[in-house]
Amino acid sequence: MLKVYRGELLHFLADPAKVALQESYQYIEDGLLIIKDGLIEQIGEAEALLASLDKDLDVIHYENGLIMPGFIDTHVHYPQTEMIASYGEQLLEWLENYTFPFERQFSDLEHGKKVAEFFLSQLLEAGTTTALVFGTVHKESVEAFFTVAQQKKLRMICGKVLMDQNCPDYLTDTAESGYEDSKALIEKWHNTDRLQYAITPRFAPTCSTEQLNKAGQLLAENPSVYLHTHLSENKAEIAWVEELFPDSDGYLDVYDKSKLLGRRSVFAHGVHLHDSECKRLGETGSAIAFCPSSNLFLGSGLFNLKQAQAFDVNVGLGSDIGAGTTFSMLSTINEGYKTQQLRGDKLSPFKSLYLATLGGAIALDLEGTIGNFVKGAEADFIVLDYHATPLMDRRMQHCKTLSEKLFILSMLGDERHIKATHIMGERV
Ligand code: GUN
Ligand code: ZN
Repeated sequence: MLKVYRGELLHFLADPAKVALQESYQYIEDGLLIIKDGLIEQIGEAEALLASLDKDLDVIHYENGLIMPGFIDTHVHYPQTEMIASYGEQLLEWLENYTFPFERQFSDLEHGKKVAEFFLSQLLEAGTTTALVFGTVHKESVEAFFTVAQQKKLRMICGKVLMDQNCPDYLTDTAESGYEDSKALIEKWHNTDRLQYAITPRFAPTCSTEQLNKAGQLLAENPSVYLHTHLSENKAEIAWVEELFPDSDGYLDVYDKSKLLGRRSVFAHGVHLHDSECKRLGETGSAIAFCPSSNLFLGSGLFNLKQAQAFDVNVGLGSDIGAGTTFSMLSTINEGYKTQQLRGDKLSPFKSLYLATLGGAIALDLEGTIGNFVKGAEADFIVLDYHATPLMDRRMQHCKTLSEKLFILSMLGDERHIKATHIMGERV
């Protein structure tokens, strides 16, 4: 079945840092998006394409709006939705005082479903259509999440957290039980509809070497699943890892020794990486989730995007709720821009919107499936509204170029500027 949408279209074809800017995106001021059975069939100039279409076909026209691929959040914790904005601590104390006690509730499947329902509705309202998501240590948390995501026909990736040391007893699994529970979840859910599984060791401090090795074994046994964890977020955390793993040559090497790096491995943060670590991430095809609102909220530091780029590391954007303070990728871009300003680096609106869409898809090894409007891609897309708030409306009146328009959208934009979200071509 064909569905046709008309409006201003923008999507990315390549990383603006790697090719000439004009080659990195396609922009059509009055475009048509033709969708067949939920997949992108064709895009192009509206007038030309309309002439070739059946005159009786319904065309949904989004005037004064920008149609873009749905945003991709490459790092977020759904169980932390209700603990967002917990005051006053940096990472390790924040985990101990707020996060761990909170995650305890997710042994209850019904609780998990309620939170997953709210979490996913928040994501969709913010224009995020795919996310790489942490559960808790409880297998029920992932069961709940996938059940709800499946009902909503979403492309989502999630995993049960592995943690067998340095955390409260009530959140502890074992190397063996973590392996078995993850394996059962992979068998049940991985590649079921649009759902995929991520093996999810929380971070090196809460995982024994035995557990990390088991995670590596499971990844080798299931090469199409993801590996999702945290890396070099906070200085006290890094010092602790060096103490706990004295035989390793730095933080990343702890994961490397357990064979956890690869094309489907995503490491959240990477705020304090050595060049040698970036090099290793780049050569293994691993990705970093850049989570600026979280990095600022927890006082973790300023991510070095230039360094990641220099070593050709795949990078996506992450909200990292509940250390992050917003579901909105537009607001996340706003925070990201400021982190780069503080470094003396520029984050252009093309680069940041690339990171929120195609860059995220590449980080998740899903290029061609989501992230842009190439033929055959899944038609998850959003409509951005330049006039949703009086301030943006006024500011837009003084703007001349596309670059300026996109920059204003990403600095002043948030959930209010998402006019519509579509999943597989259908408005939700
Ligand atoms: N490192 C280990 N666990 C977490 C978490 O839940 N949030 C963040 N931001 N960092 C972590
Ligand atoms: Zn996180």
